Amino acid sequence: MKTTHISFKLNGKNVEADVTTAQRLIDLLREEFDLTGTKEGCGVGECGACTIIMNKRAVNSCLVLAAQADGSEITTVEGLAKGENLHPLQKSFIEHGAVQCGFCTPGMLMSSEALLQENPHPTEEEIKDAIAGNLCRCTGYKQIIDAVKEA
Ligand code: FES
Ligand code: FES
Repeated sequence: MKTTHISFKLNGKNVEADVTTAQRLIDLLREEFDLTGTKEGCGVGECGACTIIMNKRAVNSCLVLAAQADGSEITTVEGLAKGENLHPLQKSFIEHGAVQCGFCTPGMLMSSEALLQENPHPTEEEIKDAIAGNLCRCTGYKQIIDAVKEA
């Protein structure tokens, strides 16, 4: 199988990989880099469980080819905490009971982080828009919105 050599920045570190033409970014992250915090729900761009930040934008990693990561800067949920210190969003999600089964949480965190990096004081509407592509079956969204507001 034909492979391409790519290099990119992953959670602040320069990394390299050999990827196949059809390989998806979500699989590269989970299988080659063991970053299994990024979840696969639907696999077709509808649930947001696989959201990562790529070049400052929240993207569904199930819809991106691994080869497209070449030269990019990627942050996954594993890149949020600093050692033992949780990221303010992670703390706020816990404090507000915004994590129930937790399956949507990594994607919610990454969509919220992309929003806060661009707009540190979003309105409720802006938060709703930012997480519109992230489905949660458990929380009814209120706790998540409150958590992002406070963070
Ligand atoms: S797994 Fe990517 S959007 Fe659902
Ligand atoms: S906490 Fe279960 S899907 Fe959101």
